[in-house]
Amino acid sequence: MGKDVIIACDFPSAEKTLEFLDRFKGRKPFVKIGMELYYSEGPSIVEKIKNRGHKIFLDLKLHDIPNTVKKAMAVLSRLDVDMTNLHAAGGSAMMKAALEGLTKPNGERPILIAVTQLTSTDSETLKNELLIGAPMAETVMKYAENAARSGLDGVVCSPLEAAAVHNTCGSGFITVTPGVRFSDSDAGDQKRIMTPEQAKAAGSDYIVVGRPITAAEDPVAAYERCIREFLG
Ligand code: C5P
Repeated sequence: MGKDVIIACDFPSAEKTLEFLDRFKGRKPFVKIGMELYYSEGPSIVEKIKNRGHKIFLDLKLHDIPNTVKKAMAVLSRLDVDMTNLHAAGGSAMMKAALEGLTKPNGERPILIAVTQLTSTDSETLKNELLIGAPMAETVMKYAENAARSGLDGVVCSPLEAAAVHNTCGSGFITVTPGVRFSDSDAGDQKRIMTPEQAKAAGSDYIVVGRPITAAEDPVAAYERCIREFLG
């Protein structure tokens, strides 16, 4: 399993996304396509970026009954993405069904990772709205364990949780971590952040970086800096 920097392409249209990727000339960064871009452009945006030679993390966070998720994953698997995800809150039966749907007849499948608790869910929401009495950290780790036991490859988590996830679920269990900022850049709306270097030291396998690259004056230089700090 390779460590890498994934650029979150949170753009509203294919035009803006492809214009952005054009700036990278010969380089082919691993890109994350989220709900906004996918729902606005449809599967063709995946094909277009894939045809340009990029690896793709399709971040659609599926969560439904097992049969529906299995069938939806079978469709996504045909798009030939490299990584996709779902909500661990859907339960083990849903996660196992997702794996079945995602696996092609030749046995190959994209990396499948789980979202544990969204970082936008705070302890109060957990207790008062979702009626989950266990502390946040305990639920995150339990969801990660459920994902590992269901055969998934890893979880999306904060770089601050990467070491604990590896301790609980094994060093081969992939941690994909957003919330990355350069030491001299604005945190924006991200609260629990690490620099690429710190994420590397914490054991993150993939860092997902959006605005520090997409909003940089020189996105290619910002990407190269991420690569240097995270992989160097
Ligand atoms: O611009 P920024 O670097 O904050 O982008 C981070 C990306 O990771 C965004 O696409 C965001 O939706 C995603 N993400 C996150 N925190 C999570 C899960 C996903 O920031 N817990």
